[in-house]
Amino acid sequence: MEQFSPADIFYILDTANSFKEISSRSIKKVPTLRGKTIVNFFFEPSTRTRLSFEIAAKRMSADTFNISASTSSAQKGETLIDTARNLQAMNPDIIIIRHSSSGAPALLTRHIQSAIINAGDGTHEHPSQALLDLMTVRERKGEIDGLKIAIVGDIAHSRVAHSDILAFSKLGAEVRVAGPATFMPPHLEMLGAKVCDSVRDAVTDADVVMALRIQQERQDDPLIPTLREYSRFYGINSELLQYARPDALIMHPGPVNRGVEMNPDVADGERSVILEQVTNGVAVRMALLYLVMGGEGNS
Ligand code: CP
Repeated sequence: MEQFSPADIFYILDTANSFKEISSRSIKKVPTLRGKTIVNFFFEPSTRTRLSFEIAAKRMSADTFNISASTSSAQKGETLIDTARNLQAMNPDIIIIRHSSSGAPALLTRHIQSAIINAGDGTHEHPSQALLDLMTVRERKGEIDGLKIAIVGDIAHSRVAHSDILAFSKLGAEVRVAGPATFMPPHLEMLGAKVCDSVRDAVTDADVVMALRIQQERQDDPLIPTLREYSRFYGINSELLQYARPDALIMHPGPVNRGVEMNPDVADGERSVILEQVTNGVAVRMALLYLVMGGEGNS
């Protein structure tokens, strides 16, 4: 999201809006990317991102292939660059990569010619998630400018938080963050976020309340005493939501740890747009594939 201007973001969101309707047709397929080859290269687990990129590509008639770290020759010691060069030798048009190392997608762009899409790199960015979050909020609220967005939880290890802070701030929202001190990196104000002393401060009058999963896989040692204590002080529950605007949207990038960062009645409540986020993920990823290919073809 660091690369994009507000105009770029609106262009992608408008393109995603135009593609969204395709997913509600009885025949969910257009010829836009026929003949294009797209490789999903995921070094970390994923349900939503991997599947929605694959569905997006298939709905646009591209040929898609999936490769994961556990089934690739990375298991035999092949480096990321060597693996990518070998993929390149098969001439795919787009490689979509998720990797535990921040900067892995950027590194690949220096070594191979195929277009690279970042599907989440370490603690750095998850741009397609931020775009689907923007699309969901824009659909519900009409505009982003002037909204108050509260992001609660493990900010330090969350690439979603980093991309969302950049994206929502660029479009004029006030982004507030809250969580345990051990989950707060030092550079948040530079990204555009307002660091709040408490979750209550963050959610007060908020238009959007977003909870984040604790990224235990990115922590060598536990940074919180217990999950029970975390839930008590930082979990999003209906009592806390009384401080937010009555029409506040409840968001989560998934996967949700119910009863930890969010109570089930909130995750499944009428203000929750968590599954709308997933639906919009397909439209946003269709737009990204289309635009990365130069916006060619007919929808
Ligand atoms: N939001 C998100 O990245 O979910 P997955 O890890 O399931 O792709």
